[in-house]
Amino acid sequence: MLKQANTGVAVYGSGLGAASSASAVLRTERLRKFFYSGSQQIVPLDGIDFSIDRGEMVAIVGPSGAGKSTFLHLLAALDTPTSGAVYFAGKSLHSFAELELAEYRNRVVGFVWQRHHLLPDFTAAENVAMPLLVRGQALSQALRVAADWLGEVGLGERAGQRAGSLSGGEQQRVAIARALVNQPVLLLADEPTGDLDERSAEGIFELIERLHRSHHLTSILATHNFSLARRTDRVLVLELGKLAPGAEVPAGAAVHAGRAESSGVRAPGERVNLV
Ligand SMILES: Nc1ncnc2c1ncn2[C@@H]1O[C@H](COP(=O)(O)OP(=O)(O)OP(=O)(O)O)[C@@H](O)[C@H]1O
Ligand SMILES: [Mg+2]
Repeated sequence: MLKQANTGVAVYGSGLGAASSASAVLRTERLRKFFYSGSQQIVPLDGIDFSIDRGEMVAIVGPSGAGKSTFLHLLAALDTPTSGAVYFAGKSLHSFAELELAEYRNRVVGFVWQRHHLLPDFTAAENVAMPLLVRGQALSQALRVAADWLGEVGLGERAGQRAGSLSGGEQQRVAIARALVNQPVLLLADEPTGDLDERSAEGIFELIERLHRSHHLTSILATHNFSLARRTDRVLVLELGKLAPGAEVPAGAAVHAGRAESSGVRAPGERVNLV
C-alpha cells in the first residue's frame, strides 16, 4: 500500500500491501558495480540477481572486500549501480524522482552502518532522534520517541549518556534504534556484530531477530559471523562478483560465534559445507 508522507511524496510505508506479499519486496536484476583504483578496475558485483520476500531474513556472507557493503549500499540507494537495477515493490529505484529517493532512504530503509557512525558527543537519545529531526519533527517529540526506542533495545537507562562513552555493543544497539526509529520496511545491517565479543554478538543478533519479528521487517544482514548467519532464513555467499546460495562457505569459517578471521585466507578451491 502506498502511503502519503507529509512531504507530499508517495512512499511505501510499513503497511506494504498484501498485493506485494506474494512477490519480492526487493529485487535486483543483473546488478553490476565497478570501481576504479588508478587504472585497476574492481568489480565487486558482476551481475547479481537477488530477491527477498516480505518478512524474510537473509544473511550475506563472503570474504572481506567481496562487495557486501557495496551491495547493501546499492540496495539502500546510497550508491548507484554501474548497470542493472534494484526494484523496490516492483518499481526500479532508477525511476524514482529525487524526493522519492530521499523518502526511500529515510523512511523505507533502516540502515545499520558497518562502523555505526554515531555522533560521539551527542547523547544516545539525540543520536536516535536524528532521523526524526531530519524529517522535521520537533526536538521534544523526537527525543520522546528516541527514548522509547532505546528502551526497546535495552538501553532505556542510557538515553542521556554521551554515545562516545558507551561500549561497542551498546553503541551498536543505539545504531539499531536509530535505523528503526522511522519504522522502515527494510532493515539493512552491515556487519551488525562486527568487532564484538561472542556474547555481545549473540545479544545483538537476538535483538535483531526480535525486532525483525515484532516490527514485521524484511532484513538483510551482511556478516562474517557464519554461526549467526546460519540462523537466518537463507544464507547467500558473495564471492568473485557473484551471489550464490550458501550451501558452502570458506573453510575454517563455520567454527565460532565471533568474527571469522579466517574467512579471507582459505586455500584456493578449498570449501566447507555451511549446513
Ligand atoms: N568508493 C570506492 N572506490 C574504489 N573502490 C571501492 C570503493 N568502495 C568499495 N571499493 C572496493 O570494492 C571492493 C568491495 O568493497 P566492500 O567494502 O563492499 O567489501 P566488503 O565485502 O563489505 O568487505 P568487508 O567484509 O571487509 O567489510 C573492495 O575491493 C573495495 O576496495
Ligand atoms: Mg563491508
